[in-house]
Amino acid sequence: MTVFHPVPRTGPKADRTQTGKANPAPAAMGLTPVSQASRIANRFLVWYLVASITWILGSDHLVTFAEQFGKVPEWFQSAKGLGYVIVLGLVLRGATRTYVEGVERANAAHIESNLELVRRLALAAEYRDDETGGHNQRIGTYAAIVGAKLNLDPKFCETLSYAALLHDLGKIGVPDSLLLKPGPFDADERAAMELHTTLGAEILSGGFHPLVEMSHTVALTHHERWDGSGYPQGLSGHDIPMEGRIVAVCDVYDALTSKRPYKEAWSTEEAVAEIVRQSGTHFDPLVVDAFLQCRAEIEAVRKNLESCGKASALRMPVAA
Ligand SMILES: [Fe+2]
Ligand SMILES: [Fe+2]
Repeated sequence: MTVFHPVPRTGPKADRTQTGKANPAPAAMGLTPVSQASRIANRFLVWYLVASITWILGSDHLVTFAEQFGKVPEWFQSAKGLGYVIVLGLVLRGATRTYVEGVERANAAHIESNLELVRRLALAAEYRDDETGGHNQRIGTYAAIVGAKLNLDPKFCETLSYAALLHDLGKIGVPDSLLLKPGPFDADERAAMELHTTLGAEILSGGFHPLVEMSHTVALTHHERWDGSGYPQGLSGHDIPMEGRIVAVCDVYDALTSKRPYKEAWSTEEAVAEIVRQSGTHFDPLVVDAFLQCRAEIEAVRKNLESCGKASALRMPVAA
């Protein structure tokens, strides 16, 4: 059995190259726009000092000016302090809002750039063997829809919509002679093809982000079968993680309804009949039930994404 070696986690302890030199700061590579705490704190200090000094000097000059025309009343001194508190509060509120909005914008751009990389990685995985494009994209969207129908946590479904994009990432390591073979595989070829699960899992192993962890699970388990006859580990029933069970149904449905080097596309009716036939053997019956309940929605997504062709591969998964 393949042994999965976790890759070293990145972080403070891994922040040095093998030569002992410090790695370039992530911010210098433009990857951490939110890491600006010191700069923001200094700007707050400047705002505070400028507002305070302006108020103190300005109000003292005002008192001196007013004293030329007579005695300044007692309440004016109190009003001066109160005004200082109010003006400073308004300045700090404006500064806080400006900077928090900036951090939120930078954070959103940071997340989007990461998700775009996930989509492009998925595109690389299917680049050689998907004639019309969009297989991974469709699986991501179908999986999120089925997950929602199963009443799974919305955050789980959103993560699944991206993790499923990478279910066949290991095909990067499968030779073209197998990926593009128009006929059936012999035993050796089949074994080599099945390695895409463990290869994908190895590429995604050791991650610390929930999306990478779920992607690893999906890559490893999407060819397991409910009755234990799948691969690579021969898991069965609830030992197969839910994300793997969902992607298994969506993957087979999309494979059946798509043209491949070795077959023509099946009609949706034929594909659904095959999914139903394999409920309880290949697939978790609960997941098949949920899939059938969202059949119309899934069919609408399939037509929509197919009309976009290869371009659909870079679209956001349609969260349920
Ligand atoms: Fe696969
Ligand atoms: Fe697939």
